[in-house]
Amino acid sequence: MATQKVWMDGKLVDYDKANIHIMTHCLHYGGGVFEGIRLYETEKGRAIFRLREHMQRFLDSAKIISLKIPYSLDEICEATREAVRANKGVKVDYIRPIAYYGTGTYGLNPIKLPTSIAIAVVYMGVYLGEEQMQKGAKLITSSWEKPSNRALPVNAKVCGHYVNSVLARLEAVNKGADEALMLNSEGNVAEGTGENIFMVRKGKLYTTPISAGILEGITRDSVMVIADDLGMPVTERDITRGELYIADEVFMTGSAAEVQPIYSIDGLVIGQGKPGPMTLKLQKAFCEAARGKDPKYWHWLDFV
Ligand SMILES: Cc1ncc(COP(=O)(O)O)c(C=O)c1O
Repeated sequence: MATQKVWMDGKLVDYDKANIHIMTHCLHYGGGVFEGIRLYETEKGRAIFRLREHMQRFLDSAKIISLKIPYSLDEICEATREAVRANKGVKVDYIRPIAYYGTGTYGLNPIKLPTSIAIAVVYMGVYLGEEQMQKGAKLITSSWEKPSNRALPVNAKVCGHYVNSVLARLEAVNKGADEALMLNSEGNVAEGTGENIFMVRKGKLYTTPISAGILEGITRDSVMVIADDLGMPVTERDITRGELYIADEVFMTGSAAEVQPIYSIDGLVIGQGKPGPMTLKLQKAFCEAARGKDPKYWHWLDFV
């Protein structure tokens, strides 16, 4: 059974009727913000992973583009739970909240426009594929540059920003790869199209800093906390493309992608050509935390 109900501006509507007007400002100009949140099956029922952190980022992204959200953090979290509850018994594992400038003007200035908000609960599955999760995904370096903080507030999850990600992902798929690696305007590694990136070199873990022009990933943060707890702290520093080629292990993190091992970059096989020991350790610990198997991280789960 597919998604039954979508939460739209305070009401639960049938999935097929969750539509918008063709003149919606966001559809033309990209002025909206969204989130991607995982929903896990646990022994104690369904759990939303780090709901408050995701919804805080949602409100922060909205603030950055001056989009007024007529709900408090508590209210929007409760709306998310309501959307999940309305899809009881449905095979779903991913929540997509979106807030956007609605209808009322055809020009660019959105200041007088109403905000519309929707929360859909859908099935995502394994983001880059089951085989890629087992053996590692193939990356290419995108010829598209990640927009700099001078061009866009890249720490905000704004709909329009994702044209850059879509182009890079298309390029990767057209070249036979699974995913694209984005370099920033300095030529250093930024992140994936919808994931942050980590590498292991000489037994140490590294990830790119916020100043590299990345989204401050919640999975990135979770993995950093878990790595620290496992006695393998992560250093945030600039990473070059060449360094990734000779890393012992590379993996990506994201709500959709979870902890995704990387097999090759630009045709060069990473490390031993299979998910490395630190990647596997973190992947296992993250999976257990997200699925409620480790009481240490129960505070990350919002049971519905
Ligand atoms: C560009 C980008 N980077 C990184 C991430 C990973 O962030 P998170 O772990 O919060 O899903 C995402 C996904 O939301 C993303 O779109």
